[in-house]
Amino acid sequence: MKLLVTGGAGFIGSAVVRRAIAEGHEVVNLDALTYAACLDNLASVASNPRYAFVRADIRDRAALDRALGQYRPDAVMHLAAESHVDRSIDGPAAFVETNVLGTFHLLEAVRAYWQGRGRPEDFRFHHVSTDEVFGSLGAEGLFTEDTPYDPRSPYSASKAGSDHLVRAWHETYGLPVVMTNCSNNYGPFHFPEKLVPVVILSALEGRQIPVYGTGENLRDWLYVEDHAEALLTVIRRGKVRRSYNIGGENERRNIDLVRMICALVDEARPAARPRAELIRLVADRPGHDRRYAIDPGRIAGELGWRPSVTLEEGLRRTVAWYLDNPAWWQALRDRAGLGQRLGLTA
Ligand SMILES: NC(=O)c1ccc[n+]([C@@H]2O[C@H](COP(=O)([O-])OP(=O)(O)OC[C@H]3O[C@@H](n4cnc5c(N)ncnc54)[C@H](O)[C@@H]3O)[C@@H](O)[C@H]2O)c1
Repeated sequence: MKLLVTGGAGFIGSAVVRRAIAEGHEVVNLDALTYAACLDNLASVASNPRYAFVRADIRDRAALDRALGQYRPDAVMHLAAESHVDRSIDGPAAFVETNVLGTFHLLEAVRAYWQGRGRPEDFRFHHVSTDEVFGSLGAEGLFTEDTPYDPRSPYSASKAGSDHLVRAWHETYGLPVVMTNCSNNYGPFHFPEKLVPVVILSALEGRQIPVYGTGENLRDWLYVEDHAEALLTVIRRGKVRRSYNIGGENERRNIDLVRMICALVDEARPAARPRAELIRLVADRPGHDRRYAIDPGRIAGELGWRPSVTLEEGLRRTVAWYLDNPAWWQALRDRAGLGQRLGLTA
């Protein structure tokens, strides 16, 4: 398959690109290289003849038309987005511009390209989204593909908007789309402003470990390589117009996840005092969703996909990766905005 991936220099996109190349596909990575991108994530595939990189913004229609015309992909997997909830609270405009308007421009460019090729039925536009579009769960229940949308942050609202556009481009123009909504990812190459790397690096360096609110919020954690495998399964075998929820079947309270990471850092780099003593409860995020949990029954039943890595094993691999790759995260941490508390402007 010749695949055009948007956002392939980000955390999940780069895992998809690495995996797609390993599976023998041709991959064009289209990415604007925002603060969240890192081409080093792709060092292992950069010189592969089946890999190409295009620096372009998904809001730039002419650049999208050029890339589609030049590379003529069989499928587009769309991951490019502004992705950090805390940043969306401080600066929602970029989220609406990239996640909503950018998706609109991409859909229009892909529609023109697909129509120009005679509307091939086996073409796919795969939109990658989040479980956060479904809002917040109480103590019971799981998100299914039929759960009504109820986004509560600028990030999740902008992703919900993009999901609606994608469905509409199928219903109105017939574009063959598939969609996925996934739970929280973690793993190697995770940008150091996100919870898991923040905890690993704070623990390693003996700094206070911030946990929002009471730490009771529950998330369902998925190892990023498992997500990449799920996405490549859906783009190949998912049914047109269908959406698939993807989860790790690893639901944990944030405070318990943080304690697990502290124990793994203690094990890898023993210290005089347990790292869990560095945990500090800090002011909560405004509108902090209490619980997300995924029912992965559809993707398991229809496509036979299940996560392969337990949370314990995935966190162990992730901690080991951060310990082995300080040059990667030190360079990214020097970028603007990191280290300051974001998302408190309620
Ligand atoms: N991280 C998670 O836990 C998670 C969970 C479910 C779904 N998702 C979704 O998966 C996708 C990827 O998430 P991630 O965590 O890898 O994000 P990320 O922030 O690590 O990477 C986003 C990438 O998109 C690129 N990008 C941003 N704006 C762009 C634009 N206007 N034009 C072109 N490229 C642009 C960035 O340069 C970056 O390389 C997003 O759509 C996100 O909503 C993420």
